[in-house]
Amino acid sequence: MKKILKIAAIAGVALIVVGALAFAGAVEFGDRKLRRYVDIRVVPVPYVKDAAALKLGKYLFESRGCGECHGDDGRGIVFIDAANGMYVKAPDITGGKGGVVSDYNEGDWVRTIRHGVNPKGHPLLAMPSEDYNRMNDADFAALVAYVRSLAPVAGESAIVRLPMLVKALYGVGTIKDAAEKIDHRRPPSQPVAVAATVEHGAYVATMCVGCHGPTFAGGRIPGTPPERPPAANLTPGEGSVMPRYDTVEKFVAMMRTGRRPDATEVNKVMPFMSLRNLNDTDLNAVYAYLKTLAPRKVAER
Ligand code: HEC
Ligand code: HEC
Repeated sequence: MKKILKIAAIAGVALIVVGALAFAGAVEFGDRKLRRYVDIRVVPVPYVKDAAALKLGKYLFESRGCGECHGDDGRGIVFIDAANGMYVKAPDITGGKGGVVSDYNEGDWVRTIRHGVNPKGHPLLAMPSEDYNRMNDADFAALVAYVRSLAPVAGESAIVRLPMLVKALYGVGTIKDAAEKIDHRRPPSQPVAVAATVEHGAYVATMCVGCHGPTFAGGRIPGTPPERPPAANLTPGEGSVMPRYDTVEKFVAMMRTGRRPDATEVNKVMPFMSLRNLNDTDLNAVYAYLKTLAPRKVAER
């Protein structure tokens, strides 16, 4: 009997050691994955700077989420500071001296925003480039024109601190970076008429996939701190939130105010500072598109 106990104890210790080694290995994988070189073919989008493009670019910057993390002035703000030690500050993206974009060329903007890869060829970790990959060339050029017109500020570089567990999960592939999720060979979207149509709605709603998932079924947002709520199921399937938005007016009101029809507050992980800037055409279009989605169970990504 004693012998059996001894063997069990040894086996237990061995398991813990193996587990710890596997964990350390996964963390090391995570570090290596961050340093990997992502080989993509970048098609530069020529710079524009006419007044119409700058106006459109400002609208896109303010409504598509850039301002939420990089700040309205592009200075870069802390957008995750969690109990588990995760801390992420977006970089200054104004052309200030020494700033990350100060020596960008036309191709570098595409590499970063569309592909999630920095000019050195390494993956970005927290920037949701998968939400911007589908942007058409005209919108893309306008967005870049606006960012380049921002007054230079003396902001800082990015700060990305990950808890070991998150790095391990990243290492083993449970958490993916944008460059992994993007199909880099897919050409940019062709422009569709800007109107309250399903087609245009599908285009605008690409900015929701990073959180609500490519199928819009919601669920936990991989890599986010545990205290953050799962994203909502926007399809008509089980656990959908859409029954409470039976009219477009209710949907638009929630997107603008951050409150549900029953006046309760939607969690601020939903980037309302940006979403409230979406104009009526875009919001009506998104609503029309969401109505066409196939039913899925919550979190069926
Ligand atoms: C959820 C927060 C978030 C949003 C939204 C976001 N960014 Fe970022 N961005 C980051 C972070 C964090 C980095 C630092 C790199 C990383 O992710 O590891 C970054 C990096 C960048 C860089 C520099 C990349 C480099 O290292 O060379 C540019 C340029 C940029 N973002 C532009 C944009 C634009 C334009 C938008 C809107 C279309 C946008 N970002 C939206 C968080 C965000
Ligand atoms: C940065 C992540 C993020 C992005 C981007 C995002 N959402 Fe959400 N969304 C969430 C989270 C998290 C919740 C759940 C909030 C809660 O439970 O209080 C949510 C909830 C919702 C809800 C349900 C509100 C309710 O009644 O509880 C709707 C509808 C919605 N999102 C639509 C959208 C649409 C449309 C877009 C794109 C235009 C979008 N979201 C972009 C994270 C996001």
